[in-house]
Amino acid sequence: MATDRWVRAKSAVPVIGGSLAYMHDPLTLMRQLYQRHGPVAPVTMPGRGPAAFILGPDACGAVLQNGDKAFVNGWELLVGPFFHRGLMLLDGAEHKQHRRILQQAFTRSRLAAYTAALHPAVATELRGWEAASRFPAYTSLKRLTLNLATQIFMGGHRIADPAELDRVNRAFIDCVQAAGAILRVAVAGNKWHRATRGRATLERFLTLQLPAARSAGGDDLFSVLTRVEDEDGTRFADTDIVNHMIFLLMAAHDTTTSTVSTAMYHLGRHPEWQDRVRAEVAPLGPTPTVSQLNALPDLDMVIKECQRLVAPVPVLARRAVKDTVIAGRPVPAGTRAFACLQFSHYLPDLWTDPESFDPERFSPERAEDRSHRFAWAPFGGGVHKCLGMAFSNLEVKTVLAQILGRFRWSVAADYVPPMSNVSLPYPRDGLPVDLRPTAMVR
Ligand code: HEM
Repeated sequence: MATDRWVRAKSAVPVIGGSLAYMHDPLTLMRQLYQRHGPVAPVTMPGRGPAAFILGPDACGAVLQNGDKAFVNGWELLVGPFFHRGLMLLDGAEHKQHRRILQQAFTRSRLAAYTAALHPAVATELRGWEAASRFPAYTSLKRLTLNLATQIFMGGHRIADPAELDRVNRAFIDCVQAAGAILRVAVAGNKWHRATRGRATLERFLTLQLPAARSAGGDDLFSVLTRVEDEDGTRFADTDIVNHMIFLLMAAHDTTTSTVSTAMYHLGRHPEWQDRVRAEVAPLGPTPTVSQLNALPDLDMVIKECQRLVAPVPVLARRAVKDTVIAGRPVPAGTRAFACLQFSHYLPDLWTDPESFDPERFSPERAEDRSHRFAWAPFGGGVHKCLGMAFSNLEVKTVLAQILGRFRWSVAADYVPPMSNVSLPYPRDGLPVDLRPTAMVR
């Protein structure tokens, strides 16, 4: 195996720990690397051994489907301390067993219960939105989804003390933000330090609340996790309930916020699509069921297009534990492999005019996403494929349907949000939109 080719690769670029090129414009970097090296592009991560960007649907598919079991997850380096023992960070038999149990928290009937709880919670949050000419859409959505997470996931109604709820929210934000820290060691007051304390606060809080969540027998995710079991009757230990809760809160939060805010941006630029999806959701009423939400083809296409244009998780981390071959290229054991989903979403071979917002590309007639199994893969693939995909679609639709019912909004034709790509992508300016009330407030 040509290991030294990796170590010595002259044109390799640093990725983690401050790659300006990645932070500035990840897609351009991925395109340059692909042109220079093809589907397996060596990059350097000082002190971390060989690493590569995996580019294109064939190569990403091979890594994620992991046919010869050469890869394990590589997330511990990026988010390990805060997502400790979350499902995405487990491997092999242990991952399989935990996933089986966790799946029981996402069955149809459970999704119906979470969705029913979402409607009033979203309505309450949106009552706090005030029309403004520079309404910070992303910042407001982030707050909204955070509050939804504590309500729907943690059974926020059981937290009587508002100061305690604030503390939990703060801890949760600190953990989420640390994934984007450049300095990845705790120094008093820095992001990593705040997140380390945040994780401890969340652990303490959830551990203390666990008996109440268990005896409540409620429909919130926390209660549900105390009683789900696999077909052999195996349940989670208390520490694992806490670990899974913390991961799920994180996994659900930024990704959903990203999708809804990308939709607000594009619908703000394309009033014809905004009117079209508003007309589609108008007959729903205030508490649509899961089947009603799953039967909104126009909104579906818009959401898919937004997740194509801005994949909430643009790159997935893996680590080779044995020598393997990807797309005909040798990948030595120890290589950190970063599957660049976002790159495939813009390949001109797969998509017509990939830079443009064109939801119809997902219509049954065009079905551009069907050109390759990994052409459109915002939820990943293989054994770690997102477990919350169905729930996230329901949440995104519930939030968007209510926003569309209450508001009409626009963004200037020449406005392009300045994206931060330090961790998951988000608009650094909070995504200002011109927000106005509609006549049809529910
Ligand atoms: C638009 C929203 C979302 C997107 C784009 C998204 C994306 C992803 C991706 C790409 C992965 C795979 C990571 C990997 O292979 O390394 C993943 C895993 C996961 N996601 Fe999501 N996610 C979203 C929302 C959610 C929500 C709402 C939940 C839970 C309520 C959730 C729970 C999970 C879990 C548990 C895993 C780990 C699965 C495993 O390792 O077996 N996600 N997600």
